[in-house]
Amino acid sequence: MGKFITLEGIEGVGKTSNLHFIKELLEVSGHDCVVTREPGGTNLGESLREILLSHTEDGMSEDAELLMMFAARAEHLAKVILPALENNQTVLCDRFTEATYAYQGGGRQLDVDSISDLEDWVQGDLRPDLTIILDAPVEIGRARAGKRSEPDRIEKEQDDFFQRVRDTYISLAEQHPHRICLIDASVDLESVQKQILSKLLEYNIIDAPVC
Ligand code: TMP
Repeated sequence: MGKFITLEGIEGVGKTSNLHFIKELLEVSGHDCVVTREPGGTNLGESLREILLSHTEDGMSEDAELLMMFAARAEHLAKVILPALENNQTVLCDRFTEATYAYQGGGRQLDVDSISDLEDWVQGDLRPDLTIILDAPVEIGRARAGKRSEPDRIEKEQDDFFQRVRDTYISLAEQHPHRICLIDASVDLESVQKQILSKLLEYNIIDAPVC
Protein backbone atom coordinates (compact mmCIF):
# COMPACT_ATOMS: atom_id res chain seq x y z
CA MET A 1 0.00 0.00 0.00
CA GLY A 2 1.15 3.54 -0.78
CA LYS A 3 1.21 6.37 1.75
CA PHE A 4 -1.85 8.52 2.35
CA ILE A 5 -1.08 12.13 3.29
CA THR A 6 -3.62 14.88 3.88
CA LEU A 7 -3.26 18.63 4.30
CA GLU A 8 -5.61 20.73 6.43
CA GLY A 9 -6.10 24.19 7.86
CA ILE A 10 -8.44 27.14 8.02
CA GLU A 11 -8.72 29.57 5.13
CA GLY A 12 -5.63 31.67 4.40
CA VAL A 13 -2.98 29.46 6.03
CA GLY A 14 -1.18 28.73 2.73
CA LYS A 15 -2.61 25.32 1.87
CA THR A 16 -2.24 25.69 -1.90
CA SER A 17 1.43 26.74 -2.02
CA ASN A 18 2.41 24.18 0.59
CA LEU A 19 0.55 21.41 -1.26
CA HIS A 20 2.83 22.05 -4.25
CA PHE A 21 5.87 22.11 -1.97
CA ILE A 22 4.94 18.74 -0.38
CA LYS A 23 4.31 17.20 -3.80
CA GLU A 24 7.78 18.29 -4.96
CA LEU A 25 9.44 16.92 -1.82
CA LEU A 26 7.66 13.59 -2.24
CA GLU A 27 8.53 13.32 -5.93
CA VAL A 28 12.19 14.17 -5.33
CA SER A 29 12.19 11.35 -2.75
CA GLY A 30 10.89 8.89 -5.35
CA HIS A 31 7.16 8.86 -4.58
CA ASP A 32 4.70 8.44 -7.44
CA CYS A 33 2.11 11.03 -6.33
CA VAL A 34 -1.59 11.39 -6.93
CA VAL A 35 -2.71 14.86 -5.86
CA THR A 36 -6.40 15.28 -5.20
CA ARG A 37 -8.85 17.24 -3.05
CA GLU A 38 -12.01 17.11 -0.97
CA PRO A 39 -14.77 17.74 -1.44
CA GLY A 40 -14.04 16.71 -5.04
CA GLY A 41 -11.53 14.53 -6.84
CA THR A 42 -14.11 12.66 -8.95
CA ASN A 43 -16.87 13.78 -11.34
CA LEU A 44 -19.52 13.17 -8.69
CA GLY A 45 -17.35 14.73 -5.96
CA GLU A 46 -16.71 17.88 -8.00
CA SER A 47 -20.48 18.21 -8.67
CA LEU A 48 -21.12 17.85 -4.93
CA ARG A 49 -18.39 20.43 -4.23
CA GLU A 50 -20.20 22.89 -6.51
CA ILE A 51 -23.44 22.33 -4.57
CA LEU A 52 -21.71 22.45 -1.18
CA LEU A 53 -19.79 25.68 -1.77
CA SER A 54 -22.20 27.75 -3.85
CA HIS A 55 -24.67 30.19 -2.38
CA THR A 56 -28.34 29.28 -2.54
CA GLU A 57 -31.32 31.31 -1.42
CA ASP A 58 -32.65 28.66 0.98
CA GLY A 59 -29.23 27.51 2.24
CA MET A 60 -28.60 23.89 3.21
CA SER A 61 -29.41 21.86 6.30
CA GLU A 62 -26.36 21.02 8.41
CA ASP A 63 -27.03 17.27 8.19
CA ALA A 64 -27.33 17.48 4.39
CA GLU A 65 -23.94 19.25 4.34
CA LEU A 66 -22.36 16.56 6.53
CA LEU A 67 -23.80 13.67 4.50
CA MET A 68 -22.75 15.21 1.19
CA MET A 69 -19.17 15.54 2.46
CA PHE A 70 -19.19 11.80 3.18
CA ALA A 71 -21.00 10.95 -0.09
CA ALA A 72 -18.24 12.76 -1.99
CA ARG A 73 -15.67 10.94 0.17
CA ALA A 74 -17.15 7.48 -0.48
CA GLU A 75 -16.92 8.09 -4.24
CA HIS A 76 -13.41 9.51 -3.90
CA LEU A 77 -12.19 6.51 -1.91
CA ALA A 78 -13.72 4.01 -4.33
CA LYS A 79 -12.61 5.68 -7.56
CA VAL A 80 -9.33 7.44 -6.72
CA ILE A 81 -7.80 6.98 -3.27
CA LEU A 82 -8.01 3.21 -2.72
CA PRO A 83 -7.00 2.24 -6.29
CA ALA A 84 -3.95 4.56 -6.05
CA LEU A 85 -2.89 3.25 -2.62
CA GLU A 86 -3.30 -0.34 -3.83
CA ASN A 87 -1.10 0.60 -6.78
CA ASN A 88 1.61 1.72 -4.30
CA GLN A 89 1.14 5.35 -5.22
CA THR A 90 1.29 8.13 -2.63
CA VAL A 91 -1.98 10.01 -2.31
CA LEU A 92 -1.68 13.67 -1.31
CA CYS A 93 -5.13 14.99 -0.54
CA ASP A 94 -6.12 18.62 0.04
CA ARG A 95 -8.47 18.08 3.03
CA PHE A 96 -10.09 14.86 4.23
CA THR A 97 -12.13 13.68 7.23
CA GLU A 98 -10.27 15.87 9.74
CA ALA A 99 -11.94 18.78 7.88
CA THR A 100 -15.32 17.23 8.66
CA TYR A 101 -14.47 16.99 12.37
CA ALA A 102 -13.22 20.60 12.27
CA TYR A 103 -15.90 22.28 10.12
CA GLN A 104 -19.05 20.19 10.69
CA GLY A 105 -18.10 18.96 14.20
CA GLY A 106 -16.37 22.12 15.49
CA GLY A 107 -17.74 24.90 13.29
CA ARG A 108 -21.34 23.65 12.98
CA GLN A 109 -21.24 21.82 16.32
CA LEU A 110 -22.74 18.62 14.90
CA ASP A 111 -22.57 15.44 16.95
CA VAL A 112 -19.00 14.09 16.89
CA ASP A 113 -20.15 10.48 17.42
CA SER A 114 -22.22 10.68 14.21
CA ILE A 115 -19.14 11.90 12.33
CA SER A 116 -17.11 9.08 13.81
CA ASP A 117 -19.79 6.52 12.80
CA LEU A 118 -19.78 7.87 9.23
CA GLU A 119 -15.97 7.77 9.20
CA ASP A 120 -16.00 4.09 10.21
CA TRP A 121 -18.74 3.26 7.70
CA VAL A 122 -17.18 5.03 4.70
CA GLN A 123 -13.49 4.38 5.45
CA GLY A 124 -13.42 1.16 7.44
CA ASP A 125 -9.97 1.11 9.09
CA LEU A 126 -8.38 3.50 6.62
CA ARG A 127 -6.90 6.64 8.17
CA PRO A 128 -4.26 8.94 6.64
CA ASP A 129 -0.67 7.95 7.45
CA LEU A 130 0.02 11.62 8.08
CA THR A 131 -2.22 14.67 8.35
CA ILE A 132 -0.44 18.02 8.28
CA ILE A 133 -2.48 20.82 9.81
CA LEU A 134 -1.32 24.33 8.93
CA ASP A 135 -2.23 26.35 11.98
CA ALA A 136 -2.50 30.11 12.38
CA PRO A 137 -4.73 32.46 14.37
CA VAL A 138 -8.09 33.10 12.71
CA GLU A 139 -7.39 36.82 12.20
CA ILE A 140 -4.17 36.07 10.29
CA GLY A 141 -5.89 33.47 8.07
CA ARG A 142 -8.87 35.71 7.41
CA ALA A 143 -6.68 38.71 6.57
CA ARG A 144 -4.72 36.64 4.04
CA ALA A 145 -7.83 34.94 2.58
CA GLY A 146 -9.69 38.24 2.36
CA LYS A 147 -7.24 39.48 -0.26
CA ARG A 148 -8.33 36.69 -2.61
CA SER A 149 -11.57 35.93 -4.45
CA GLU A 150 -15.20 36.17 -3.32
CA PRO A 151 -15.79 33.87 -0.27
CA ASP A 152 -17.73 30.63 -0.85
CA ARG A 153 -20.72 29.51 1.26
CA ILE A 154 -18.56 28.12 4.08
CA GLU A 155 -15.94 30.91 3.96
CA LYS A 156 -18.83 33.35 4.59
CA GLU A 157 -19.09 32.11 8.20
CA GLN A 158 -18.11 34.40 11.09
CA ASP A 159 -14.88 34.42 13.13
CA ASP A 160 -16.37 32.40 16.02
CA PHE A 161 -17.09 29.56 13.56
CA PHE A 162 -13.45 29.56 12.37
CA GLN A 163 -12.20 29.79 15.95
CA ARG A 164 -14.07 26.53 16.69
CA VAL A 165 -12.67 25.01 13.46
CA ARG A 166 -9.13 25.95 14.53
CA ASP A 167 -9.64 24.71 18.10
CA THR A 168 -10.90 21.36 16.76
CA TYR A 169 -7.88 20.98 14.49
CA ILE A 170 -5.58 21.65 17.48
CA SER A 171 -7.39 19.07 19.62
CA LEU A 172 -7.30 16.47 16.80
CA ALA A 173 -3.50 16.85 16.69
CA GLU A 174 -3.40 16.38 20.48
CA GLN A 175 -5.65 13.28 20.34
CA HIS A 176 -3.79 11.53 17.49
CA PRO A 177 -0.14 12.63 17.68
CA HIS A 178 1.01 9.42 15.94
CA ARG A 179 -0.68 10.49 12.68
CA ILE A 180 -1.63 14.18 12.92
CA CYS A 181 0.83 17.07 13.30
CA LEU A 182 0.43 20.79 13.66
CA ILE A 183 2.62 23.29 11.78
CA ASP A 184 2.92 26.92 12.82
CA ALA A 185 1.75 28.66 9.65
CA SER A 186 1.74 32.17 11.10
CA VAL A 187 5.43 32.57 10.20
CA ASP A 188 7.00 33.19 6.75
CA LEU A 189 6.69 30.59 3.98
CA GLU A 190 10.32 29.43 4.24
CA SER A 191 9.96 28.67 7.97
CA VAL A 192 6.68 26.82 7.31
CA GLN A 193 8.38 24.71 4.65
CA LYS A 194 11.28 23.86 7.00
CA GLN A 195 8.76 22.57 9.55
CA ILE A 196 6.96 20.52 6.85
CA LEU A 197 10.23 18.92 5.73
CA SER A 198 11.13 17.94 9.29
CA LYS A 199 7.66 16.40 9.85
CA LEU A 200 7.88 14.33 6.65
CA LEU A 201 11.21 12.99 7.94
CA GLU A 202 9.98 12.47 11.51
CA TYR A 203 6.91 10.49 10.37
CA ASN A 204 9.07 8.40 8.01
CA ILE A 205 7.24 9.56 4.89
CA ILE A 206 10.53 10.46 3.22
CA ASP A 207 14.12 9.45 3.97
CA ALA A 208 16.83 11.92 4.97
CA PRO A 209 18.95 12.88 1.93
CA VAL A 210 22.25 11.00 1.76
CA CYS A 211 25.05 13.59 1.35
P1 TMP B 1 -10.92 24.40 0.04
O1 TMP B 1 -10.55 22.96 0.01
O2 TMP B 1 -10.84 25.02 -1.29
O3 TMP B 1 -10.23 25.15 1.11
O4 TMP B 1 -12.49 24.52 0.36
C1 TMP B 1 -13.29 23.50 0.75
C2 TMP B 1 -14.26 24.02 1.79
O5 TMP B 1 -15.04 22.90 2.24
C3 TMP B 1 -13.60 24.61 3.02
O6 TMP B 1 -14.34 25.75 3.44
C4 TMP B 1 -13.73 23.53 4.07
C5 TMP B 1 -14.98 22.81 3.64
N1 TMP B 1 -15.03 21.40 4.04
C6 TMP B 1 -15.89 21.03 5.06
O7 TMP B 1 -16.60 21.87 5.61
N2 TMP B 1 -15.93 19.72 5.43
C7 TMP B 1 -15.17 18.74 4.82
O8 TMP B 1 -15.26 17.56 5.18
C8 TMP B 1 -14.29 19.16 3.75
C9 TMP B 1 -13.44 18.12 3.06
C10 TMP B 1 -14.25 20.49 3.40
